[in-house]
Amino acid sequence: MNKIVLVSGASSGIGLETARHLSSKGYQVIGISRSYPKVEYNFDYFLCDITDEKKVIKTMHLIEEKYEHIDVLINSAGMGISGAIENTPLEEVEQIYNVNVFGHILVTKTLLPLLRKSKKAKIINISSVASEISLPFQAFYSMSKASIDAFTKALSMELKPFKIKVCAVLPGDIKTGFTKNRLQPYQVENDLYTERTKHSLNRMAKDEQNGMDPIRIAKKIERLIKRNRIPLRTTVGFSYKAIRVLNKFLPEKIVQFFVRKLYG
Ligand SMILES: NC(=O)c1ccc[n+]([C@@H]2O[C@H](COP(=O)([O-])OP(=O)(O)OC[C@H]3O[C@@H](n4cnc5c(N)ncnc54)[C@H](OP(=O)(O)O)[C@@H]3O)[C@@H](O)[C@H]2O)c1
Repeated sequence: MNKIVLVSGASSGIGLETARHLSSKGYQVIGISRSYPKVEYNFDYFLCDITDEKKVIKTMHLIEEKYEHIDVLINSAGMGISGAIENTPLEEVEQIYNVNVFGHILVTKTLLPLLRKSKKAKIINISSVASEISLPFQAFYSMSKASIDAFTKALSMELKPFKIKVCAVLPGDIKTGFTKNRLQPYQVENDLYTERTKHSLNRMAKDEQNGMDPIRIAKKIERLIKRNRIPLRTTVGFSYKAIRVLNKFLPEKIVQFFVRKLYG
């Protein structure tokens, strides 16, 4: 029987590309997000804001009525934020944590009974290279993704007896709607960071819009679904693999020097 896969954030970018790719390969795909994809799609869809507990529970009940089990959960919904730590209001920090962290915790918790009904379930969390390399003027994004890595590691140990495998995919720059949807720096009077924030954001936006096609992440996810053993964390593309290795072995001060040169 074809595997049943639920993808959050399936209306755009990595989630949409993954849902379409897996569906074209014969997987039964269920997409969720707050809006429908703006392009043609051929998978089941439920509107759901993952930051709204009542809506998540209601959506998962609707899914349970239609599907006996779920084999793979892909937590791809997400958003970005930019601006100096000093300038960012706590409400914006809460907003990004609500989507990038609490939303995934909520969807995962609610879906676990259905995942347990699968013989070999998998949970794939979309994190970011920025989880391991903290970016200036994107601190709260890096922090939210580092939380997802920690969540992935702990969850994987807790779910081992149920044979549910957990993995975080850490993409680098990917060309999606993410750049346009990123929260812009909060405007404050006498901003001491204007020029540096602008430079950092322009650089980031340019890198993303010249970035990798999301289909490469979709294909990586397909390989992870097929594999018996999966890593706890993985990335896509030689340059991002090299960046992760350098980050692991170089002294932190040297890594910080290069990151500051690029984005600081
Ligand atoms: N693009 C990159 O360079 C990059 C790099 C590394 C990691 N990532 C990560 O990859 C994931 C996907 O991002 P993307 O690049 O594909 O960006 P995207 O094109 O902006 O897609 C984001 C998706 O998340 C959904 N979403 C946002 N808030 C939501 C909410 N409250 N409830 C339900 N769905 C919500 C959006 O759908 P609706 O608006 O319809 O709700 C959309 O489908 C994110 O976790 C992001 O952090 C992206």
